[in-house]
Amino acid sequence: MSGLKTLILAAGEGSRMKSKLPKVLHKIMGITMVEHVIDAAKNAGSDEVAVVVGFKGDEVKEALKDRELKYYLQKEQLGTGHAVMCADAFLDDNKDVLILYGDTPLLTADTLKKLLDFHKEENNGVTIISAIVDDPAGYGHIVRDEKGAFVKNVEHKDATDEEKLVKEINTGVYVFKGSSLKKALKKLNNNNAQGEYYLPDTLEILLKDGEGVNAMAVNDVSEFYGVNSRVQLAEASEIMKKRINRYYMENGVTICDPLNTYIAPSVKIGMDTVIYPGTVLEGNTVIGDDCKIGPYTKLVDVSVDDGAEIKFTSATEAYVGKKTTVGPYAYIRPDSKIGDNVKIGDFVEVKNSVIGNGTKVSHLTYIGDSDVGERINFGCGTVTVNYDGKKKFRTTIEDDAFIGCNTNLIAPVTVGKGSYIAAGSTITKDIPEDELAVARARQQNIKGWKKSK
Ligand code: UD1
Ligand code: CA
Repeated sequence: MSGLKTLILAAGEGSRMKSKLPKVLHKIMGITMVEHVIDAAKNAGSDEVAVVVGFKGDEVKEALKDRELKYYLQKEQLGTGHAVMCADAFLDDNKDVLILYGDTPLLTADTLKKLLDFHKEENNGVTIISAIVDDPAGYGHIVRDEKGAFVKNVEHKDATDEEKLVKEINTGVYVFKGSSLKKALKKLNNNNAQGEYYLPDTLEILLKDGEGVNAMAVNDVSEFYGVNSRVQLAEASEIMKKRINRYYMENGVTICDPLNTYIAPSVKIGMDTVIYPGTVLEGNTVIGDDCKIGPYTKLVDVSVDDGAEIKFTSATEAYVGKKTTVGPYAYIRPDSKIGDNVKIGDFVEVKNSVIGNGTKVSHLTYIGDSDVGERINFGCGTVTVNYDGKKKFRTTIEDDAFIGCNTNLIAPVTVGKGSYIAAGSTITKDIPEDELAVARARQQNIKGWKKSK
């Protein structure tokens, strides 16, 4: 059997979240819970992923539109088995299918791979992951015979007093042979305490059909932690944060304050980089070797090259070159490409601009929609005036220009190579190479003015 499909159940409202948002769209480390599950499935080798949606399904689809997924609608929540029935068209006789929940963000690809290996070795029709827990109330209990062979799953509400004591529970992670699952779904009924179609009833059905059915027991239940409330969301976030920060620390990154450092699993960080407290790194952020990031810095989809330093800064969709320093208190907005050995100092905002190597923008400056060359010096308080209320225009500043303090550059305008601008100028015309532009009222001192009043 080749090819692995994954079906993720995410039709529930999650009323205990007390939220307008469907539960699975709540985020951990900047990523929705359901995407954490999707990534685990993909990393475990699943080539096709489908999601069963219900409550605000259109919102779920919209939030996941950048991903290649199939969707199936479960209009009414008639149980986990019913949710899978709604996706019957997704199932393929010749492919295994993983069934996961959208609200278990801590699940790892490693554990799924172990399950898949176990399932193949035993050539089962279905294999689930079970866990031994201290308090099994609320879960499905795994009933085994005297020899330890799997007998059935019984839901807590349907269990006898004796069965209720069984501490081996169903974690809700399954892998089926596609053909076996299709066959079992046809035989599911809802004759139980909750009047629901229970997916775990398929286990007993397949066993009676002579198929291999087993539960792979694990000791660590934290991976299967289902998030039902905001308190649990914070707890899951805490567990994931610890796991991720540990990974980076074991791979050559210094994290000064792991309790206050939030790194998404998608982020890459090079060797000997130091992350200071209060740092949040999200999206496709990539950080090179020997960088210093933070304190109090948020980077989303930012590439930072070797040796750069970024402190007290917010940056999104940008590139920061080698040995460049940014901050404190800089704001780097999308489509900014900042070269090597650049200085971006305090209260500087950069948007949709390219800044060449060795340029210095030390303080209180706005650079928007600009092409800035190399070795340029920006005086304090320079503003590129890029917007006339209707349209945006670009500013070009060529290599080695020197911009005096408190200059306004009214775009579109070009500041020529090696030219100078006198402080306090409002530049409306292009400046040719190597010239000095002075664009301010000449100062007059009026003699005896005070006495004359
Ligand atoms: C389920 C299992 C139980 C297991 C436990 C582990 C069943 C009947 N029981 O119980 O054996 O120990 O998970 O957490 O499966 N969902 C839908 N559509 C539905 C019902 C549920 O999409 O009609 C989704 C929910 O959004 C949720 C997941 O399936 O993400 C689990 O459903 P839930 O009702 O929480 O199942 P449990 O009662 O916890
Ligand atoms: Ca649950």
